[in-house]
Amino acid sequence: MPNEPSPFDDLKLAHDVVWNELREGMQKPRHAFHWPTLCYLDGFTPVPRTVVLRDLNRSEKRFEIHTDARSRKAAVIPKAKHASLSFYDPRKSLQLTVMGRIEMLDTRKDYTELAWAKLNLATKTIYANTIDPGTAMLEPENTTVPVDDMSTEDLARARKNFRVLHLTADRLEVLSLKGNHRRLLFDYGLAGQRRAAWLAP
Ligand SMILES: Cc1cc2nc3c(=O)[nH]c(=O)nc-3n(C[C@H](O)[C@H](O)[C@H](O)COP(=O)(O)O)c2cc1C
Repeated sequence: MPNEPSPFDDLKLAHDVVWNELREGMQKPRHAFHWPTLCYLDGFTPVPRTVVLRDLNRSEKRFEIHTDARSRKAAVIPKAKHASLSFYDPRKSLQLTVMGRIEMLDTRKDYTELAWAKLNLATKTIYANTIDPGTAMLEPENTTVPVDDMSTEDLARARKNFRVLHLTADRLEVLSLKGNHRRLLFDYGLAGQRRAAWLAP
């Protein structure tokens, strides 16, 4: 029996479907797209890191990720300037790859403060660790501050360590392996001059 028509047979519909999935992924921790892999170059080494998709702006093609200022990636990404995000939903056999420019926001600007204000206390504790992430330790140790023990001092330290990353997509590639295999490329180009095409999967 031939495969059902799929949204990936229509470039415009496919684009809507993909961005709706991304929005759902951003909103729902149970959605596979909530946990993309961020890739960037550290020198010549491509580094993949699982991250949380914290926010999304479709018109700006912008993906928001949060990180700790003391992490290696916070030192490397401002130099790397380019990064990609890879999303995979096994239930839908759907892979999305976003390639673009990445920046770490100036922590004094209002945007970082707004993003911080939206986080719950449990999430804020992530940034209150007393030992810098990546520090070698002679034995395993708990470095996280339990949420019930968070003092004003811990909270101030966490806020200081909190950073927002914005990846602005230049290209979005879609691969759907459910039913007929479909591969699509959306090239966002300059000033919204979007080009879309199917590619051989
Ligand atoms: C499920 C999961 C979610 C994660 N989310 C983030 C995140 O949103 N931001 C982040 O910086 N690291 C996140 N991490 C940790 C990174 O993958 C990485 O291990 C860590 O940031 C250390 O990276 P570094 O090399 O920059 O020190 C997450 C890890 C897992 C397993």
